[in-house]
Amino acid sequence: MPTITVRTARPYDVTIQTGLLDRVGECSAPLLPGRTAALVTDSTVDPLYGDRAQASLEAAGFRVCRLVLPAGEQTKCLSRLGETLEFLASNRLTRTDAVFALGGGVIGDLAGFASAVYLRGIRYVQLPTTLLAAVDSSVGGKTAIDLAAGKNLAGAFHQPAAVFCDPTLLSTLPAETFSDGCAEVVKYALLDGEPLRTLLADPAKVDWERVVAACVAVKRDLVEKDEHDLGERMLLNLGHTFGHAVEQASALTVTHGKAVAIGMVAASRLAAALGLCGASLPAEVAELLTRYGLPVESPYPPSRLLPAMGTDKKRAGQVLRLVLPERFGKCVLRETPVDELPSLLPLAFPGKEGNP
Ligand code: NAD
Ligand code: GLY
Repeated sequence: MPTITVRTARPYDVTIQTGLLDRVGECSAPLLPGRTAALVTDSTVDPLYGDRAQASLEAAGFRVCRLVLPAGEQTKCLSRLGETLEFLASNRLTRTDAVFALGGGVIGDLAGFASAVYLRGIRYVQLPTTLLAAVDSSVGGKTAIDLAAGKNLAGAFHQPAAVFCDPTLLSTLPAETFSDGCAEVVKYALLDGEPLRTLLADPAKVDWERVVAACVAVKRDLVEKDEHDLGERMLLNLGHTFGHAVEQASALTVTHGKAVAIGMVAASRLAAALGLCGASLPAEVAELLTRYGLPVESPYPPSRLLPAMGTDKKRAGQVLRLVLPERFGKCVLRETPVDELPSLLPLAFPGKEGNP
């Protein structure tokens, strides 16, 4: 069973194992002082896995209360945060009790944030059910909700007490949701190189348990160096700055994962144009993404993307930190003044001006 320890201020283990959903109770009990568990999940995941999670917790002696929220990004909002906090209070959770977040990144972020602020912080356990949540959002302690002005604008760093990932749960994901998660997996391959690149060689023969573990190990290394996202952890934004612009230009009709895929190719093209990487890297990145069913070309020209680049929330003053690849296994942060973007975007999205 791959277990990866994340040595943040309060260390915790990420365990990835087939069948773990039915052992969540016995694995959690030794880690938690209290015996009340608030199981927070969504309306799609609950009928698939809610009863099994609850049964496992009850068998280990937990009193379980369950909150089922509507599936989808719109649940990551102030009113659902309020509903979750009231649910914890009405079920009399104390500071020794814990929240179990069973779902994708939406439930993990929302339940994590509720745990961060309820009674000024109680423990929570991440039970990721999407590929994105397994490789990214369940690890590292970023919790958040969206505000009217944008995504993830209110949140807290609050590390989980444990992450239990059962990769068999990924088998029920819609193909598009799975494919979106693959964009993040390719991101880790570009950040770290091996063993991920080899593990992804043949999409028909991927050992997802090993892939998830390899991705989590990459994220662990960055989170341990920079728990509060002030430096190296920003490398995890690879593909996200250009991807954000594509997502915005499409009025969110291009999904996040697809936008990140397009953004990684754009970052590679810019790196090649600036002489940071070899000329063949963009095609290699595009080929790997295509193998996993992801798009690599922006439907929009630079002039459509420029306004959205300026609204990226990761901007610090008039400077953006672009993540640019030098090769598979090495990416760098490049501080980029916003006023350089009009000349850089055509390098990242060549041949696009004039398209509809
Ligand atoms: P999601 O949580 O909305 O899940 C996608 C869809 O899949 C939902 O409809 C969900 O009900 C369904 N689903 C989940 N598991 C399933 C399963 N096993 N079988 C069938 N259906 C299932 O979306 P997501 O892509 O997991 O997460 C996106 C969110 O994660 C965004 O809000 C993003 O901001 C956040 N995020 C956070 C971090 C972080 O570090 N905290 C990192 C990346 C993304
Ligand atoms: N998903 C980016 C981070 O955790 O920093």
